[in-house]
Amino acid sequence: MKFGFFDDQNREYVITQPNTPLPWINYLGCQAYFGIISNTAGGYSFYRDARLRRLTRYRYNNAPMDFGGRYIYLRDDESRQFWSPSWQPTRHDLENYSCRHGMGYTVIGSTYNGIEAHTRYFVPLDENLEIWQLTVTNRRATRAQISTFASIEFCLWDAQDDATNFQRNFNIGQVEVEDGVIYHKTEYRERRNHFAYFGCSEQSAGFDTQREAFLGPYRGWDSPAAVEAGQLTNSIAHGWSPIGAHQVKLDLAPGETRQIAFVLGYQENPVDQKFDPEDSQTINKKQVKPVIAKYLDPKQADAAFERLRQHWDKLLGIFQVDTPDIHTNRMVNIWNAYQCMVTFNLSRSASFYESGIGRGLGFRDSNQDLLGFVHMAPERARQRILDLAATQLPTGGAYHQYQPLTKRGNNDIGGGFNDDPLWLIVGVSAYLKETGDWSILDEEVLFDNQPGSEKPLYEHLLRSFSYTLERLGPHGLPLIGRADWNDCLNLNCFSSTPGQSFQTTTNKGGQVAESVFIAGLFVSASRELAAIAKHCRLNAEADTYLREGTKMEQVVHEHGWDGEWFLRAYDDSGAKIGSKECAEGKIFIESNGFCVLAGIGLDDGRAAKALAATHEHLATKHGIVVLQPPYSKYYLNLGEISSYPPGYKENAGVFCHVNPWVMIGETRLGHGDQAHDYYSRINPSAREEISDLHRCEPYVYAQMIAGKDAPTFGEAKNSWLTGTAAWNYYAIVQWILGIRTTLDGLEIAPVIPKNWPGFKATRIFRGVVYHISIERKGDGNQISLIVDGSPIEGNLVLPPTDSRKEVTIKGFLGEPLHK
Ligand code: GLC
Ligand code: GLC
Repeated sequence: MKFGFFDDQNREYVITQPNTPLPWINYLGCQAYFGIISNTAGGYSFYRDARLRRLTRYRYNNAPMDFGGRYIYLRDDESRQFWSPSWQPTRHDLENYSCRHGMGYTVIGSTYNGIEAHTRYFVPLDENLEIWQLTVTNRRATRAQISTFASIEFCLWDAQDDATNFQRNFNIGQVEVEDGVIYHKTEYRERRNHFAYFGCSEQSAGFDTQREAFLGPYRGWDSPAAVEAGQLTNSIAHGWSPIGAHQVKLDLAPGETRQIAFVLGYQENPVDQKFDPEDSQTINKKQVKPVIAKYLDPKQADAAFERLRQHWDKLLGIFQVDTPDIHTNRMVNIWNAYQCMVTFNLSRSASFYESGIGRGLGFRDSNQDLLGFVHMAPERARQRILDLAATQLPTGGAYHQYQPLTKRGNNDIGGGFNDDPLWLIVGVSAYLKETGDWSILDEEVLFDNQPGSEKPLYEHLLRSFSYTLERLGPHGLPLIGRADWNDCLNLNCFSSTPGQSFQTTTNKGGQVAESVFIAGLFVSASRELAAIAKHCRLNAEADTYLREGTKMEQVVHEHGWDGEWFLRAYDDSGAKIGSKECAEGKIFIESNGFCVLAGIGLDDGRAAKALAATHEHLATKHGIVVLQPPYSKYYLNLGEISSYPPGYKENAGVFCHVNPWVMIGETRLGHGDQAHDYYSRINPSAREEISDLHRCEPYVYAQMIAGKDAPTFGEAKNSWLTGTAAWNYYAIVQWILGIRTTLDGLEIAPVIPKNWPGFKATRIFRGVVYHISIERKGDGNQISLIVDGSPIEGNLVLPPTDSRKEVTIKGFLGEPLHK
């Protein structure tokens, strides 16, 4: 069952009934000001940091789930009926309800009793504000007297404190109202130099800033007393819960349309110019007034919207593809790329599953996110890499997370996740391949942000590398530390205390438990690093990295192979994990996927065996599960992984983040059908028809789909903020379609399904537009290329040495072209 449809032309998903299985959301903003918005206008906004600069309030774990939002009410001032065109919060039976989620904007609207209303919500580029453009049309045969109300609830900035510290918070709320604009200035009197504002383009018929005056005692947002009465009360908040509500009266002739704009924004003043007059407590509004005036002007707002559209044209235009599979096209061309941008911006901080008050930016997550994002905004990727590297510790280890506002490592969680540092090599390598900007390696970067500790970025990579080598276990495999990619495989934790964090509790010395996954990652990273060194003419160093990589590969063969597949790990007692000898958890996806991705066992048949076993034991129609059989009880020696009931999360759920490792592995084996089949099983668009089962948005990936051992097999959870976005993008674009960035140029190596006659793609790479067409001539993946009319040897297309800005590549797949 579907709840809407894709409008690919407009790059929108159109939801046609408001009661989707879960709130289906979108993100507003792509630089510093962000908002989450659901299909019924639920959600909230923040500036840079979802915890520390939260503009509007949202109650997590609420029922309904998306409650608290950007709510608009319309009231028929004759019949006194009121409703919300976005369905929530009043939930009337609307006609023609639709929610169009697009690239950085959302339009929600409907018709009720002959009154049509739509609101377009978006954040203009380079501004710290959001615009709501409400359009109201009278479709009746008679005049209509309509009151419109727009409302938000302010958060008292620190979202954690806001949700807990009521003995203080109920006393500190402050606002100002001037020229029809509501200013939220809680704590501005003391150490804050920022405030929020909520303005309206039309003559005000009233406002409210105190929640209780607006809602009335004992009422919720579904029936605000002031809306019911048809008149806001001009309340001024002192303490309690500051809100922003505007009322505008419309007298509409039949067929008449009116537009009203609301602007919600964030503003900082210089610390020494907070007040005007200076010795007063009144906000200095000199800077902000022109900004508000600008975006309340419909022409300016429309122009800003047009710029946003062009921004996305440009970003998405960097890679476009036309294949025989609509789900591939739509995800690659639109939604997956878009999701990559969102995960890059927000990491794992703010969604309806991530509270925005917990996690900062993950070291491993953010490095992996680069894989899907680096081509769209290389300058921002560069900065991200430098920020991440500056949180690396002098040992080469890394804080597991850092806070975006301070850019400092997070002490609460600390380090010791032994895969973390290696992802820096993966991230930097992806950046170099995309940009060819070798200067980044010479950038001086601090360790742990300590002044005086700076070393070139290249040195950071070396420390990542030696961090692993200096921490090898009894079999010569890397020690796992607190966890590797799998945060829940906690082999040094041994926690029997409820509530203790599995991630930060370490009760064992950590000198025994080893990870085959990290070994695979190390082999892959060693080759990336060697290629980088070679490019810098550091041949001896390159040889060392290759040698260490090959050594590790041998260790994997010797101690990491179980006979039919790769082992997962050794626990603290030296016992195997992910082996046929185990009662449960006999086989895991991560080590099998990543070892093959790294090229281990490609030439001796082990890679093929490992992926055949993966297919046999782990693949399901809803994706590949993490392990089999699931852990049926809690294992003290394994930690959080066994805390989940079978089929969920790391305990045998389909973790969509790691499925692409197997897809890439399959391409390395030349299996295009299998690779694309796995790709399609978790492709959200391909799952649209089963939206009632899948339940999450059909336009973005979710972190997890419940595995076959769960009663809810096939149900997705935790959409949007997941490494799944980057890895699937990378797998389909670079390995299945095979348009691959290398340090030297573009490699063309498609491993596509047999029955595809070919495909076309456009790729803008290092300033050159490549028009690529691939035509299947026969079976197999052998390719011959004609570049601007001339056949070339091999499949690496070097950047033009002349002034050409467009290059045409024709590829013939299957039987060789020239005999
Ligand atoms: C979450 C974390 C990621 C981790 C994965 C598996 O997605 O953000 O860092 O690798 O879970 O545990
Ligand atoms: C939990 C989640 C895991 C996530 C981790 C982050 O363990 O199950 O997916 O990576 O928290 O701290």
